[in-house]
Amino acid sequence: MSTKSQSKAEIKPLLTHKIGRGIHAAFGEFFGRVIYDGIWVGCDSDIENIRGIRRDVIDGCADAGITAFRWPGGCCADHYHWKDGVGKKRYDRIHFASNGDKSTKNRRNDFGTDECVDFCRLCGMEPVFTANAATGSAEEFYDWFEYCNGDTNTRYGSMRAENGHEAPFNVMKWGIGNTDENVWHASLPSDFVTYSRDYLKMTAPFTQRSALWPELRFIGLGVSIRHNLPGWTEGSLDYITNGGRRMGPDFLSIHHYLGGMKDRKCGGGADYTDEEYEYTLDSLVKYQQDIDTHRKIIAEHTHPANNTKIAVDEWGLWHPEADDRNQLRQPQTMRDAVFAGLALHIFYRNSDIVAYAMETQLSNLLQSLFETRGGEFYKTPTFYIMKMYRDHLEQYMLPADIICEGGAGECFASAAKDMSKITVTCVCRDLYKSMRLRIPDEFAGFRTVKSDIVSCSDVRAQNTFDTPDMIKSAPFVPLSDNIELPPFSVARFVLEK
Ligand code: AHR
Repeated sequence: MSTKSQSKAEIKPLLTHKIGRGIHAAFGEFFGRVIYDGIWVGCDSDIENIRGIRRDVIDGCADAGITAFRWPGGCCADHYHWKDGVGKKRYDRIHFASNGDKSTKNRRNDFGTDECVDFCRLCGMEPVFTANAATGSAEEFYDWFEYCNGDTNTRYGSMRAENGHEAPFNVMKWGIGNTDENVWHASLPSDFVTYSRDYLKMTAPFTQRSALWPELRFIGLGVSIRHNLPGWTEGSLDYITNGGRRMGPDFLSIHHYLGGMKDRKCGGGADYTDEEYEYTLDSLVKYQQDIDTHRKIIAEHTHPANNTKIAVDEWGLWHPEADDRNQLRQPQTMRDAVFAGLALHIFYRNSDIVAYAMETQLSNLLQSLFETRGGEFYKTPTFYIMKMYRDHLEQYMLPADIICEGGAGECFASAAKDMSKITVTCVCRDLYKSMRLRIPDEFAGFRTVKSDIVSCSDVRAQNTFDTPDMIKSAPFVPLSDNIELPPFSVARFVLEK
């Protein structure tokens, strides 16, 4: 790469800000066609699969570097009963909510615990399960935990072995309840404790922190600023910890969707004005505000020994096209790519406290990574951003002074602890001007070993089943001083000595 003259300036990664693997996680539940068709096609399907799980989705998850998978919800978790989804005979269960699918009163259970663990293993993802804190009970949760983790002398560990899995699944991350569902039913923490009569019992094993389960962690409920319920998270933390006398959650969850379904000023998914484009990207400041709010709550309402972190366990754009008639599917354009690039930068900049970020949802719903229709499949713009950005994982934030001139935008840099590798991702969000980069002196001596870009001549173009490759990553020039990114584009550079 051509850089400025060699300088003695030293630059060091911030060891407080390690970009954890959990920041590249995904979420999937039983809405619409996320699971059925989007992940699970069944062993007898003509669509290429491994034990019933789509081959294209497995390969795509591995390629995008998806590290963890949250399941079975979301809202679906609060109506999910795990025993429906294990063993040879699977029963459907009636559901009352129409979310994502008005065509059936029943939810299938072909994809249950064993299949989800298999899916996670095939893709190299950590399972993050959400316990049913609404219509379930503490006993049901403990039984599920035993099914996943008990040895074969336990009742449910032996059930798992009978189902073909002698070794425990080792599911160690558990969300207790789903924020959105709970705040809809209970806008005060005290109402919530009445609504979820077993919530305290469900969190009790975690607050006791048994040395027998050193890896066990739980995600407790936080509440996004979009719900405007000041005091809710503090109140529920006080219930769980008995006013700070017991340990609390390892992670506080935040769910936050932006986009036209939540705020009409963002416009449609593929049909938006320039103003709506800018407004949507500006609204990302709310993610930072949510993190700041939860950072403060953690500092003031948890014991320092708890070391509580944040799990942004649902994030993304929710466009107005994604309604029940459409099974919550939506188009994605370059705006979604730019949005994903900027959102990930926010999570990285807060990686001292943000441990998980689940893009929502994996297939066929909201800001998905994959769209499927029977044997057809394509990757969305968000997929390409996740794939390019994966080089940041397990590196440390690098306070590099990369100057962006001309078009509006920003860069984020991370580095290996020993500075043997630097990853730089840059977003030009400008609709009309290209963005020029000025490289810091400290980058002298590094050469570009990988560089690519996601861009398109039309910001409103979209990938579809007929045009699956309108937006994708393509090789780009090496990083150098004065290099230019075209309008509405996202680039990645990996540098080595
Ligand atoms: O992702 C769709 C739904 O949005 C989730 O189930 C819920 O938690 C959120 O409101």
